[in-house]
Amino acid sequence: MKTNLQLKTLCLIVLTNILLAGEGCASEQPGSSSSPQPALKDVFKKDFLIGMAVNNNVVCGNDVNAAAIVEKHCNTLTAENVMKWGPIHPEPNRYNFEPADRFVEFGQNNKMFIIGHTLVWHHQTPKWVFEDNANKPMTRDAMLSRMKDHIFTVVGRYKGKVGGWDVVNEALDDNGELRKSKWFETIGEDFIEKAFEYAHEADPDAELYYNEYNNEKPGKLEGCVRLIRKLKAKGLRIDGVGLQAHSDMNYPSKKELEGFFAAMKPLGVKVMITELDVSVFPWVDWFAMRKIDFNDVNERKKFNPYPSGLPDEVQQKLADRYAELFSEYVKHADQIDRVTFWGVYDKTSWLNMGRSNYPLLLDKK
Ligand code: G3I
Repeated sequence: MKTNLQLKTLCLIVLTNILLAGEGCASEQPGSSSSPQPALKDVFKKDFLIGMAVNNNVVCGNDVNAAAIVEKHCNTLTAENVMKWGPIHPEPNRYNFEPADRFVEFGQNNKMFIIGHTLVWHHQTPKWVFEDNANKPMTRDAMLSRMKDHIFTVVGRYKGKVGGWDVVNEALDDNGELRKSKWFETIGEDFIEKAFEYAHEADPDAELYYNEYNNEKPGKLEGCVRLIRKLKAKGLRIDGVGLQAHSDMNYPSKKELEGFFAAMKPLGVKVMITELDVSVFPWVDWFAMRKIDFNDVNERKKFNPYPSGLPDEVQQKLADRYAELFSEYVKHADQIDRVTFWGVYDKTSWLNMGRSNYPLLLDKK
């Protein structure tokens, strides 16, 4: 293990270089062996895996620059969307495996540790999932059987290829209580246990994770700890907890991160930084974003202040913020299995939401 200081220096150099130099633009061929940038997966190889979430364009050959960046920097890969219930199982008797097959093939071809995201989530799950043939709410038993069938089909197809699954995603409310989702309402609180049980049956060798956002915040953190303890007490396999790490320039604080790592340690689970990005703006949710009138000059100034590029001083602050987060991760490298960025480059980040955001290491080009 390298010392913190050495690693912090490396983080600073690599992250700052990438952020400030803009790999993948100008004359340099991203991923080429002549590139002066070291690969992130090599820089952090003694500490954790480095990954990115990818969409279809990256793995199917439409976005060759992004693919080259992923190949160069990553040794783990996550499906941003194609394995969610909606995209992969859009209708009761129809699975759409092709995009997920390509994603898995890309990961295998590049010898990456492949993450399946995600089996059970309240979002991006079609309405039909929660209704019977007469469009009436499902009974508990029917719902469990549907969940089992889905998990067996999807996990079974990629058995031995996908190394780890985000089995359940975002099941907690901010106060740490279970979210009152359709899963919860139809099955009851053991829907989480059942999902882990089925996933383990479908591929006994796959790692299984619980993935959550804001779980470094008080309330949700305690809820997360209770949940993991419960799964463990029931003898279920759970290998890791995903800290999504959708961050901004101030959140999470060092104290919040430290609190998270300290709370996870006694649970005997690995930590995954699963969806890292750093918004240069304070958080505004989808609902509020939709209400913003970008034709109004004042609203534009407030919510989309950098439409054509990030000013140098903000770019430097972003680089510093990335270095700060990575030095925390490095400090807790004994607990962290991987750090995955939620996307490859700014242009395709979910955080743009109608404006220009700059949350990833690589810029719009
Ligand atoms: O697939 C359709 C496409 O056919 C259509 O042309 C296009 C038009 O808008 O929409 C496409 O689907 C969109 C999909 O992203 C792929 O681009 C959905 O509308 C859109 O809702 C979906 O957003 C995703 C979001 O999850 C909602 O599920 C984001 O890309 C994805 O980054 C985001 O990821 C989530 C994690 O899974 C869980 N944690 C939070 C994170 C950020 O919200």
